Amino acid sequence: MIRTLDDLGVEGAALGVRVDINSPLDDGGPGEPRELADDARLRAHVDTVRELCDRGGRVAILAHQGRPGGDDFADLSAHAARLDELVEPPVGYCDGTFSADARARVENLDAGSAVLLENTRFYSEEYMSFEPERAAATYLVERLSPVLDAYVNDAFATSHRRQPSIVGFPETLPAYAGRVMERELEVLGNIGESPEPRVYVLGGAKVDDSIDVARSVLERGLADAVLTGGVVGNAFLLADGVSLGAASAAVVNERSHEAVKGAGELLDDFSHRVYLPRDVAVERDGERVELDLEELPAAEPALDVGARTVAAYAEVLEDAGTAILNGPAGVFEDPLFEVGTRELYTAATRAETSIVGGGDTAAAVRKLGLEGFDHVSTGGGAALRMLTGDSLPGVEALDQPERP
Ligand code: 3PG
Repeated sequence: MIRTLDDLGVEGAALGVRVDINSPLDDGGPGEPRELADDARLRAHVDTVRELCDRGGRVAILAHQGRPGGDDFADLSAHAARLDELVEPPVGYCDGTFSADARARVENLDAGSAVLLENTRFYSEEYMSFEPERAAATYLVERLSPVLDAYVNDAFATSHRRQPSIVGFPETLPAYAGRVMERELEVLGNIGESPEPRVYVLGGAKVDDSIDVARSVLERGLADAVLTGGVVGNAFLLADGVSLGAASAAVVNERSHEAVKGAGELLDDFSHRVYLPRDVAVERDGERVELDLEELPAAEPALDVGARTVAAYAEVLEDAGTAILNGPAGVFEDPLFEVGTRELYTAATRAETSIVGGGDTAAAVRKLGLEGFDHVSTGGGAALRMLTGDSLPGVEALDQPERP
């Protein structure tokens, strides 16, 4: 049984609240701290943190930023400052995660206030995978649990990881799903009950992931149609024998040597449900040029789907009960090649229910300023895992028997 904040006695309780505010950072000037380049993930958690404070909780927020050794591996001072602006009750910052100072900060929290503890990944154990029992014996969980009364997982976007802050605390504390987690599970966990026909729009450059999603949803009877675009669409065109040109083929092969084979197998099994682009857009002399398949191969790489594809896909989306978007249809970062993504995503909002996968897809929606979707997921890898029908370790850990 997964309990939510509705089941939690918040007043006066010390709550460890795991969120995912892992965000892109700007470059920062020389000697300047790096600032958040996008605060969407912080905004997503505002309701959970505010509600827990308003209900008199003492909220210790746990989060990570980047990966050890990576460019965006950083402390959480900028995140705390931004959360303090976004959430009405005060949000402080503590530059330790489970040190004596950090524990004292948590113990001395006033009811109705919050503190963001330091990047959990500053501690090596947090970047390892554990079974829950072993995760409960890590320093983070062992030292922090005694000063907490309950644990809330709102970090849907990290819940595909078996890290201590995700799977360890539910072993030592009563655990609850936060509001972000609750909503994600409601939508992505119940895709099979969403209105039919269900149309998946799969694009982007993570070709193998998209092929896995397509195979899984087609085999499980979840998808009535799969519309392909982006590098994914190009892989399907190559698999279908279209000679796109060496430049496009190189991009596909760079992403995955298995992609064309995987796409071909899927076409063999489900050709009637998988839709391929009818035209592509390339850059020629600084201009967008759309080419029908008969006009290929092209010397330039295909960077977007063309108007004929958009029109055909929009017709399918028009009748969709549910449209599920994962991955852009082209290089949406370039104004010349954002058109396909913009028009297809806009068509998807006309489906009865429209769902946007997280990560790059949510970033495309924000960059293009698109609105009108029923659900925009906060998770990249986690959303993808849910869409392929896998369960998430962080969600399994929340599934606890009744506690006395
Ligand atoms: C994400 O950005 O997908 C989550 O924050 C998880 O981060 P990770 O892929 O570094 O574990």
